[in-house]
Amino acid sequence: MQNAVLDALKERRSIRRFKAEQIKDEELMAVLEAGTWAPTAKGLQDPWIVAIQKPELLERISRMNSEVWGRDIDPFYGAPTYVLVFASGPEKTSNGLCDGALVLGNMMNAAHSIGLGSCWINREREMFATAEGKKMMKEFGLPDGLIGVGALALGYPASFPNTVHPRKEGYYRIIK
Ligand SMILES: Cc1cc2nc3c(=O)[nH]c(=O)nc-3n(C[C@H](O)[C@H](O)[C@H](O)COP(=O)(O)O)c2cc1C
Repeated sequence: MQNAVLDALKERRSIRRFKAEQIKDEELMAVLEAGTWAPTAKGLQDPWIVAIQKPELLERISRMNSEVWGRDIDPFYGAPTYVLVFASGPEKTSNGLCDGALVLGNMMNAAHSIGLGSCWINREREMFATAEGKKMMKEFGLPDGLIGVGALALGYPASFPNTVHPRKEGYYRIIK
């Protein structure tokens, strides 16, 4: 079968080169809104989404991430917008990571559908477990007890990868 949604799901690729130009507010809102419509365990809407466009913060978050990674490069590939996703930690629920991952997935697919590029950037769990990360979460006005699930580098793609890895043999099976 084929339709626009199925096509977009297959066409989306992780983008790792971005234009410096900032995305439009309406585009950012469309991506964030799509994140809020992800399913969540018990419908609790547990995750929290924080979009960052302030240059000092972008730099700080990039630095925190590269410190966890142990590599002196910008892990966000120079994207003009970061979108961070947080969710409740294991003390409160075992579903935080699952809920947050679906929010990120919705946002990546939504971004692609409106011509934006995105890439999931890892290491938020570690970054926001540090004293600096916890302080930053307070600055964002988030409730206590959250963990970092993941982040998106978001912006206009400067290039689109043309290598597509075929799906692995036996990825799914149907048992009737
Ligand atoms: C949980 C998760 C963590 C990821 N972390 C990173 C990351 O830190 N940096 C990065 O460049 N890509 C990261 N990616 C993107 C994957 O490398 C990418 O999705 C994968 O290579 C498949 O490529 P595609 O998204 O273009 O289909 C991550 C993806 C997921 C789902």
